[in-house]
Amino acid sequence: MSITISMAPLHGVTNRVFRNAFVRHFRGFDYAMAPFILSIPAPRSRNAHFKDLFPEYNTRLPLVPQILSNDAVAFAQTASALAELGYAEVNWNLGCPYPMVTGKRRGSGLLPYPESIERFLAEACALSPLPVSIKLRLGLVDAREIMAIMPVLEAFPLKRIIIHPRIASQLYDGSIDLDAFAGAASLSGREVGYNGDIRDVSTWRSLAARFPKVNEWMIGRGAISDPFLPGRIKGASLPDDPKVALEAFHEDLYFGYRETLAGQKHALDKMKEIWSYLGSSFSSDGYGQKEIRKAFSFEAYEKAVRAVFSEERWVAGTNVETTAG
Ligand SMILES: Cc1cc2nc3c(=O)[nH]c(=O)nc-3n(C[C@H](O)[C@H](O)[C@H](O)COP(=O)(O)O)c2cc1C
Repeated sequence: MSITISMAPLHGVTNRVFRNAFVRHFRGFDYAMAPFILSIPAPRSRNAHFKDLFPEYNTRLPLVPQILSNDAVAFAQTASALAELGYAEVNWNLGCPYPMVTGKRRGSGLLPYPESIERFLAEACALSPLPVSIKLRLGLVDAREIMAIMPVLEAFPLKRIIIHPRIASQLYDGSIDLDAFAGAASLSGREVGYNGDIRDVSTWRSLAARFPKVNEWMIGRGAISDPFLPGRIKGASLPDDPKVALEAFHEDLYFGYRETLAGQKHALDKMKEIWSYLGSSFSSDGYGQKEIRKAFSFEAYEKAVRAVFSEERWVAGTNVETTAG
């Protein structure tokens, strides 16, 4: 069975600069899901709102835009704008766990209310010019919430359903609940995609063995820590000198941010966030990485990065076999 591997949306991280740099240097992803945008009731400030999604910036990897909304009409209007940009699918975010969002019954704030989800989907699926898909968690406060949601989803022509097996109060940490994922997937007549904590090939392999019906695997942090991971899951081997590709990727990303963001701080903050993931794949969190965290000028940052690339070894995935997916 050939599998689909998708890039998870990470707001503030997997933007167009990151996506484009990533695909220039690494393989494995079949498409990316874009970080959420809010639904807009009217086409105001259209340029700023949709900029990350403009097709001219997204030519390298198929992209599925995502909307965070609890207003089906506004969702459908936003989907119409996305259809005009040429998109073929729109994803509804039912997973965002932050209280600012959930308090307004958006993201995972809707999960305890299957009847609201049903009402939303009835209207959104009827009005949206694009097929709708869903990315959701197990629940807001209880992993059993999803058991009331899955039967509701059966009535709608959803393009895909991707489940991150955590509840909202866990944010992105704590154990994932694979039994709850299995229970939810068993209630769906369609294939369900899996997302969460795929950090290395052997983790993916054991998930794939446990869930043989899952065809789509969505990976976020694991692929930022180890950008070779999606390709390795699909059977590619690690290059002899992984740091060559990583340095070239880093250069693209860094100069991409320098070109698109105003001021040193913004570009450096973005790069520091990348290093908060990527750094764990190097042999030590020593001098170079500390200096990256402390860098407040491009010069200091570049010096620290040179130290990491010259002094530290790439250790991620160096002792696992690859698997042909
Ligand atoms: C910083 C950050 C931003 C995120 N932004 C989004 C988002 O915009 N939309 C979404 O559906 N999920 C978002 N997520 C959740 C991820 O898509 C994913 O579900 C989660 O990180 C678990 O997958 P992973 O373990 O492979 O990273 C975000 C996660 C993080 C850590």
